[in-house]
Amino acid sequence: MLRRLIYISRSMIGADPKQVEAIVSTSIRRNAPLELTGMLWADGESFAQVIEGDPHRLEQTMDRIRIDRRHLDIEVLLDRSVASRQFGNWSMRQAVDDEASAHASTFMIGFAMGERTNLANRLYEIVLESDRRNLF
Ligand SMILES: Cc1cc2nc3c(=O)[nH]c(=O)nc-3n(C[C@H](O)[C@H](O)[C@H](O)COP(=O)(O)O)c2cc1C
Repeated sequence: MLRRLIYISRSMIGADPKQVEAIVSTSIRRNAPLELTGMLWADGESFAQVIEGDPHRLEQTMDRIRIDRRHLDIEVLLDRSVASRQFGNWSMRQAVDDEASAHASTFMIGFAMGERTNLANRLYEIVLESDRRNLF
């Protein structure tokens, strides 16, 4: 059984690309042996992240992510069992302007539009804004 979790949070590191890279590289190192995969959007003010994998391993990872001081106010938008991965096989990856990210961003935007909640509206904004920032 696989679990998919989507959350948004408030960034405490602004738009600093070096710090976002550091988060992604730690995530890759930690997620790879656990077979967790996902994608991260960063628009400077907020993060949006999707993580997929074994439910228990995902829970343990979320316990670490929740106490990380580089972000605050984690709000979970989706936490459910799924049949298959939707975000490729990256242990973690920042959404940039390429085909793989476009698929992931399209999924997130579709999800947000279907939800029609305030949180989902914020997710929509974060994905669009972080895609815009990472165009060049
Ligand atoms: C926005 C954000 C996303 C993160 N994503 C992951 C992740 O997918 N996997 C992970 O292991 N750590 C992730 N981290 C880092 C963890 O919070 C933590 O620093 C890391 O797992 C190392 O934990 P340790 O110092 O206990 O080894 C993320 C942190 C932030 C701020």
